[in-house]
Amino acid sequence: MSETFFVTTALPYANGPFHIGHIMEYIQADIWVRFERMQGRRVHFVGADDAHGAPIMLKAEAEHVSPEALVARIAAGRGRYLEGFHIGFDHWHSTHSSENTALSQDIYRRLKAAGLIHCKPIEQFFDPVKGMFLADRYIKGECPKCHARDQYGDACEVCGSVYAPTELIEPYSALTGAKPVLKTSEHFFFRLSDPRCVEFLQEWLAVAGHVQPQVANKAREWLSGKGEQALGDWDISRDAPYFGIPIPDAPGKFFYVWLDAPIGYLAALKSYFDSGKARANGETRSFEAFLGAPDMRQVHFIGKDIIYFHTLFWPAMLHFAGAPYRAPDNVHVHGFITVSGEKMSKSRGTGISPLRYLELGMNPEWLRYYIAAKLNATVEDLDFNPADFIARINSDLIGKYVNIASRAASFITRHFDGMLEYPCGTEELTQRARELLEQVRSSYAAREFGRAMREIMAFADRLNQEFDARQPWVLAKDPARREALQDSCARALYGFKTLTCLLAPVLPAVAERVARELFGLDRALTFADALVPPRRINPYQHLMTRVDPKLLDALLDPQEKTVSDTGSPAAPKPPAATVAAIDAPATISIDQFKQIDLRVARIAAAEQVAGADKLLRLTLDLGSETRTVFAGIKSAYDPATLVGRLTVMVANLAPRKMKFGVSEGMVLAASGPEGGPFLLTPDAGAAPGMRIS
Ligand code: 2FM
Ligand code: ZN
Repeated sequence: MSETFFVTTALPYANGPFHIGHIMEYIQADIWVRFERMQGRRVHFVGADDAHGAPIMLKAEAEHVSPEALVARIAAGRGRYLEGFHIGFDHWHSTHSSENTALSQDIYRRLKAAGLIHCKPIEQFFDPVKGMFLADRYIKGECPKCHARDQYGDACEVCGSVYAPTELIEPYSALTGAKPVLKTSEHFFFRLSDPRCVEFLQEWLAVAGHVQPQVANKAREWLSGKGEQALGDWDISRDAPYFGIPIPDAPGKFFYVWLDAPIGYLAALKSYFDSGKARANGETRSFEAFLGAPDMRQVHFIGKDIIYFHTLFWPAMLHFAGAPYRAPDNVHVHGFITVSGEKMSKSRGTGISPLRYLELGMNPEWLRYYIAAKLNATVEDLDFNPADFIARINSDLIGKYVNIASRAASFITRHFDGMLEYPCGTEELTQRARELLEQVRSSYAAREFGRAMREIMAFADRLNQEFDARQPWVLAKDPARREALQDSCARALYGFKTLTCLLAPVLPAVAERVARELFGLDRALTFADALVPPRRINPYQHLMTRVDPKLLDALLDPQEKTVSDTGSPAAPKPPAATVAAIDAPATISIDQFKQIDLRVARIAAAEQVAGADKLLRLTLDLGSETRTVFAGIKSAYDPATLVGRLTVMVANLAPRKMKFGVSEGMVLAASGPEGGPFLLTPDAGAAPGMRIS
């Protein structure tokens, strides 16, 4: 029986735009989905926004919008990233949906009927001003060990000790500053420690392929923990006010966001079925029939930070809820993406901005190839290194792959009117294409994408060497050696077609163009095409440009980060993929403008930065605090002339880690064709810290 796949990626929280970590995961899953489809498999690939939970509720409140409106705004911004990087989800949904409510409540009722839900009173900090229970991250106070002030409720960032929020000295609510009080309420628990669950999970983890071996080992450690490390039951309820799904027959109680988030995978699938798209994708069964079908394979791609939820709670919930629900078939875990060896921080906004990448007009398939070339099936981190990126794209994609077609096609067009013949036959060529196809296919199937790219590029090397050894540019001058010219170019172009088929999961747009423009096909390539010698070609059209290192400088230059990428309301899509396009005027509402905290600042110090071409380090006095800002104004200002001067800064820009230190904001300057940058200065009378509106 042929397998039908139901594939998901982790559902992103609907409180901010995608970061590079999301894009890496989606590219990984998308390559795998395209690979399965190229070998004739049916795949349903769905995603959704993870809409619930206290952070989203509080963010919406801070913006004076409903959580629904916030989630809708974030969802509206998703398409430009997904289309931009050729990530082909079949459907995108939300956990805040009728499907998810019905499925979550159904699964809960089944778990309750199976005796796996129990209640007990829990004493927790409560903010009397806000009228809500406080999760650890919303409680701050003095560390009980080292007495550092303003530490979070679960761990001290200064001395690293871990404690309960009740141990904090002089605790206060991070939401209102109020002194929290202890209050008791009834909570619902999923009995993860039940021997039935533990036994089932041990069995599930033991099946090869469900998870990678190192992930299974980690999950087993949790399962067999003793003493303080013992596996506890899972608190699945939260008290109102909470943005979530109501627990049936329990007024004022909601499911904890992590209960309904993975069920959101199923909700997205159901919505996809109900929309008719599953049918259009060849699926004739109902959602329920498909979910319980023996040929269905449920596959999740996730990051290593959420293994706990996906290898313990999620399989147990599904299994004990009973048919048609079934524990996942594969949970594929990947590592994090680092940038030049440094961990990116979501909260501090470091890393590469995917939107800026697109706005700079950088080719999305460069990034897809780079990620593929560095991915393997382990949970190791993947490093984005700018020099390595440039070298790999320029050497592999341009120097090896594209080079074959651009060189061989021009001879065939000029000397043979586009017709290909194989004077020495195609048998040996097809045999070597078949061997490569099998090799690469097994690498893709094992998610060893880096290995697949190495195999592909080794073949490209071989084609280039053969081509060079035959010196077609010499053959072309001698009419008596026409047949040899035809043979060397036809071999190269057959090889190029094979390579294009094998690269198609990674380079879908290039593969589509090659199929249509060069080979004149009116359909997408499949792996079967890798073994079919081309018989004629159209004139070669330029396929891909080299990476200009300046683009990487612009991508990584923090001064040029786009406002639309910071989680604030999405700006309209820039009209063209050029740097200049970022300056195109966009309409924003007054509310959007108000989100930018502009302040008067006094330049308390200005210094050169060793090793920086464009930057000066400014110390800005905001009245009640000082900030360090790296400003790209070195070309226009002598630091000594800046000290004491007033200027304008963006005070609520997320801090950004740069090569030279952390930049905690941005100063405003004008520039244009006439010159610049020209720092802004307020009129006399303005004082440091004054708000600009
Ligand atoms: O960690 C996160 O970003 C979560 N929003 C992932 C949820 S995955 C699934 F369970 F929905
Ligand atoms: Zn401490």
